[in-house]
Amino acid sequence: TTKNSTLHQKIRDLAKAKKAIILAHNYQPAQIQDVADVCGDSLEMSIKAAATDADIIVCCGVRFMAETAAILCPDKIVLMPNPEAGCPMADMVTPEALVKRKKELGGIPVITYVNSSAAVKAVSDICCTSANVVKVLNTLKSDEVLMTPDRNLARYAAAKTDKKVHLWEGYCPFHNDLSVETVKASKAAHPKALFMAHPECTPDVLELADSIQSTSGMIRFAGESSADQFIIGTETGLLHALSKAHPEKTFFPASDQLLCTDMKKTRLQHIWDCLENMSGRVVVEESIRIKAMDAVKKMIAIK
Ligand code: 13P
Ligand code: SF4
Repeated sequence: TTKNSTLHQKIRDLAKAKKAIILAHNYQPAQIQDVADVCGDSLEMSIKAAATDADIIVCCGVRFMAETAAILCPDKIVLMPNPEAGCPMADMVTPEALVKRKKELGGIPVITYVNSSAAVKAVSDICCTSANVVKVLNTLKSDEVLMTPDRNLARYAAAKTDKKVHLWEGYCPFHNDLSVETVKASKAAHPKALFMAHPECTPDVLELADSIQSTSGMIRFAGESSADQFIIGTETGLLHALSKAHPEKTFFPASDQLLCTDMKKTRLQHIWDCLENMSGRVVVEESIRIKAMDAVKKMIAIK
């Protein structure tokens, strides 16, 4: 609409005037992806945040993404346009429960998915994202590790290594709900399409996948593949990013139910308001930040 395109331009001008960079996750609503300087997966968002020379980082996504930026950039102002956007999976582990479990397991190293709070990262040895989980696992010397909070991501990574991986019973309510029946029906409807799945899907769904990727990994895979049709086993916001990157290819959602409520909470107006009023600032308490930074930086250092 005209109102949106005016707001889009006003946001671009304000971001420039305030030396702000707008980062958006690949699941954000289309108009948020379109107004951002950079879109990406969780790993790319944290690398961008760490490297930017902007004064202000506007982080469009869910809380753990803004917290990761704040962990890496203590001298910058990190703003969350809608501070109410959380990640239900991140809430499935607390620092207290994690410390207790690590002790029970004799102190083995803990790999924590970035979909977690700063306080949980602070009691972890290293972080990972869906893009680097196998690499992170293989850099650890210990042949036994605890992975938290996503049991599906942990099972996926465990199958690719000889290490013993202890699971945490967390999951993404949306990815975890994608069923084999739904995927099979989608494959039957689109017999020429390749099926790409996110590692947060259940093991039986991952077995049906032609490729298992992070969100940006899916964008790259679609570009490199000779196929021109794909069924997408992740949050439907990615379809906008995929069609933008590869307008000549066709993308079908594996399920139109795969919609992350919290990712859809960001509006253009929120971005304008937070930049104008410097509201929605995310700050991580310093003693937690230092420890969490150690776990995040170890992950970023792995090439
Ligand atoms: P990516 O890091 O693959 O973008 O995934 C983030 C996420 O929240 C998946 O549900
Ligand atoms: Fe969290 Fe799932 Fe939403 Fe990703 S899609 S942010 S894991 S609830």
